Amino acid sequence: MAEPQLVLDSQDLGNRRRRGRSRRPTQRQNISRNFGELLTWTDHFSVDNEELDDQHRNLVRCLNDLHALRLEGTDPDDVKAAVREVELLLMRHFSHEEDYLVRCGYPYVLQHAAEHRTLMREFETVRENVFNLAGWGSKPDVAWPVLEFMIRLTVGHMLKCDMEYRDYFRANGVLPGK
Ligand SMILES: [Fe+2]
Ligand SMILES: [Fe+2]
Repeated sequence: MAEPQLVLDSQDLGNRRRRGRSRRPTQRQNISRNFGELLTWTDHFSVDNEELDDQHRNLVRCLNDLHALRLEGTDPDDVKAAVREVELLLMRHFSHEEDYLVRCGYPYVLQHAAEHRTLMREFETVRENVFNLAGWGSKPDVAWPVLEFMIRLTVGHMLKCDMEYRDYFRANGVLPGK
């Protein structure tokens, strides 16, 4: 498997540009184009299932959006909107992926599902902190804990644990499901 392309953006943090109002989701979906990508999706990350790949791509896009939010000066409303989107994507993705692993007879599905539960608990903590406005005064970089979680989710889980089931299926000749 190719090494994950984790690229630190060279954007000068001193040149942050604060836009002052939150964007609609369709606008947010394009903001990472302005700031470069922290992690670039490649076909090497495919798990041989189109729907799961699409969901993984969306999570990588959220990671890059959060990276861009930090560079342009975190807008609290944008971070909250990003967290809501991640929550929806995560709930759908974890359940979909676990169903897929059960259908394909993956022997480590329980361990994999337990990893998902751990990540969901971590996400809940991050989510509570983001929506707890009282804590933001002394902690202006509110996007960082969310971005940190997204790095654990993508680089730590998607590019490690998810690749393990993909490699197991490939090694055992399990045909990819739809
Ligand atoms: Fe996954
Ligand atoms: Fe997973």
